[in-house]
Amino acid sequence: MTDPRAFGDHQHSLGTQLVHTDAEVIVVGHAAAREIALDPASYSSGVSAHLQLPNGLDGEEHARFRTLLDIYLNAEVVAEMDFRSVARDVLDRAADSLDADRLAALFSVRAMRHWLSWPESLEDRLLDWVAENARAARSGDRAWTARVAAEYDEIITAALEATPEGSVTWHLAHDHGLEHAEIVSILRNWTAGDLGSMAKCIGVIVRALADNVPLQERLRGGVSHMEFVAIADELLRLDDPFVSNRRVTTCPAHVAGEELDAGTRVRLHWTAANRDPHTFRGFDPEGHAADNLVWGVGAHYCPGKPLSMYELHAFFAELLPRFDLVPSGDGERDLAGGWARTPVVLRAR
Ligand code: HEM
Repeated sequence: MTDPRAFGDHQHSLGTQLVHTDAEVIVVGHAAAREIALDPASYSSGVSAHLQLPNGLDGEEHARFRTLLDIYLNAEVVAEMDFRSVARDVLDRAADSLDADRLAALFSVRAMRHWLSWPESLEDRLLDWVAENARAARSGDRAWTARVAAEYDEIITAALEATPEGSVTWHLAHDHGLEHAEIVSILRNWTAGDLGSMAKCIGVIVRALADNVPLQERLRGGVSHMEFVAIADELLRLDDPFVSNRRVTTCPAHVAGEELDAGTRVRLHWTAANRDPHTFRGFDPEGHAADNLVWGVGAHYCPGKPLSMYELHAFFAELLPRFDLVPSGDGERDLAGGWARTPVVLRAR
């Protein structure tokens, strides 16, 4: 395994669009990744033997679950959440622990617990799980990854038992006639992904702002939510920690000048596609917005983006007035995307 960002840059330097391995075709070109994501009839998302709602669905069944999710994830609903006070609470108590990664993990878990009304008693278990999940993902050991996934289902079951009537978790579990396995799958996709990705997004942005003091100052001065989203999108595009998603061809398909047989496994490498020099040059939040693939594109476009951006904005709005972000060495890249240890020092202002 190599760092996904370095892998993508290397492939781009060779002018590659598609990388063939024994198991799959990895799509690193921006145009090809976009074309595939926008053609769900030829490229199915049904790639896993496990129930993945809604990620693993296609067509009408997928659309039905997306409508259900929208009730909980649409921008108006999530804008109501007070993530600023969650961030304030995490940072106020951070005086003796100024590790950016620890703060990012803690904030991600607390923000998620706040949104879903999961009990405080699950916090340490969730934090341990995030750390172990990241280690398992890095190891590439499938048995370990499967064990960690099973552990997560137990956490969800405990949360379902403890969640108060009227909470988001409670409504999801009671209002839609869903089976237990379906509820667990939806919550797993919301939360397991959220925790890891959110903490990693924070790491990427923290380092990028440490490297760009004028931009750090601009955000510290306060920006509109729209402006924050444009800047965060562009920083995440340059170092996309949410590396890839899979597809499988449903028919013979033609992409990037090549023929793919029906049944070909395809990996959309968002991190690489987001740095394709044919499409992107330099730092340009407005100019690059339409081509940004951090949240995917097409039918499976991330429904969690508004929630994620409110959480990120709240965190940085509280972090930046308290601390200067200063780069510190080369850090350690995470082979599963983003930073394993973010090379930044938080210096109290
Ligand atoms: C924090 C950073 C996040 C990033 C970078 C991210 C990125 C993505 C991407 C690239 C996809 C497209 C997958 C594909 O095309 O196969 C996706 C799908 C999805 N994301 Fe996110 N996501 C994030 C956070 C979240 C959060 C917080 C939630 C929910 C609370 C969420 C829920 C989902 C779901 C349910 C899907 C599947 C959508 C579908 O298949 O229709 N994501 N995400």
